[in-house]
Amino acid sequence: MTTTEKINFSVGDAVKEGLTQKEKSLPSWLFYDAEGDRLFQEIMNMPEYYLTNCEYDIFQKYKDEILSIISTDADGFNLIEFGAGDGLKTEILLKHFVAEKANFNYKPVDISQNVLNLLQERMQKSIPDLDIKPINKEYFSALDALNAERKNPMVVLFMGGNIGNFELPAAQSFVNHISSKLRKGDRIIMGFDMKKDPELIRNAYNDTQGITRLFNMNLLKRLNSELDANFNLEEFKHYPSYDPQTGTTKSFLISQKEQEVNLKFINTTVHFKAWELIHVEVSQKFDEDMIENIAKEAGLNVEKYFYDDKRYFADVVMRK
Ligand code: AVI
Repeated sequence: MTTTEKINFSVGDAVKEGLTQKEKSLPSWLFYDAEGDRLFQEIMNMPEYYLTNCEYDIFQKYKDEILSIISTDADGFNLIEFGAGDGLKTEILLKHFVAEKANFNYKPVDISQNVLNLLQERMQKSIPDLDIKPINKEYFSALDALNAERKNPMVVLFMGGNIGNFELPAAQSFVNHISSKLRKGDRIIMGFDMKKDPELIRNAYNDTQGITRLFNMNLLKRLNSELDANFNLEEFKHYPSYDPQTGTTKSFLISQKEQEVNLKFINTTVHFKAWELIHVEVSQKFDEDMIENIAKEAGLNVEKYFYDDKRYFADVVMRK
């Protein structure tokens, strides 16, 4: 899912690598073609997908406290956002910061110029006084570019629980990498989906309307059209699992019979045994100990947990 991965691998390379391993897998960034983006918007509006409202509520409730934390020790700050999407949730914070006349600029980072254009248009309409300077670069090069010119502290926003889509060691390296670009006093605000009633978590990835199923199956559709593959969607099954011991949600596409699939554009034929899995997504759930460990390893201190009322989700302020 990460921008870095997207740049380094073409779809064909990533698929070839994933489907020719002993334990088949596909990277979850492959979900997000135009149809995948649309289905993900639907997921975010599903009653079972509690994450959306949690973070929305946190920002509504704590926007003032968040501002006082990040604006305490300097004249101003640079607010960098990784993967802002449509900006709906960030807008709550930005509106408040501008209304309070905070001295800051907002720098959303994305490798898609189109995403940035849409976001800038939206923000300029709804918050005309916002100082917005989009950066069309890969995440870490954006931090390098900013470091070359900035004086004020930096606050990196990474919301939506996206950190959970990394396997834990990769999540740790991602945070380490951000931290290596920070100066003393800089901060990260990161959204973590917390461990909770296992049934609630499982339902969020196995909704009754079948939208998450369509979202997962769309990945095979994408391979059929982009790599001229012949996956028969009827013969694959979407299977999400949640392990409350580890806090890991995993999604699989399972071949319901023995079969061969041909992917013409990458000259690859893949053999599936009956009930063989393709692992397509991890969605890690956290507790405070796990978050403290990640922060500590990365040389950061956890400054504050902001929870929604049900304590399902936390936006965590970490300081270098
Ligand atoms: C983007 N990410 C935080 C979502 C999640 O909850 O892991 C992606 C998703 N996959 C299925 N439903 C939502």
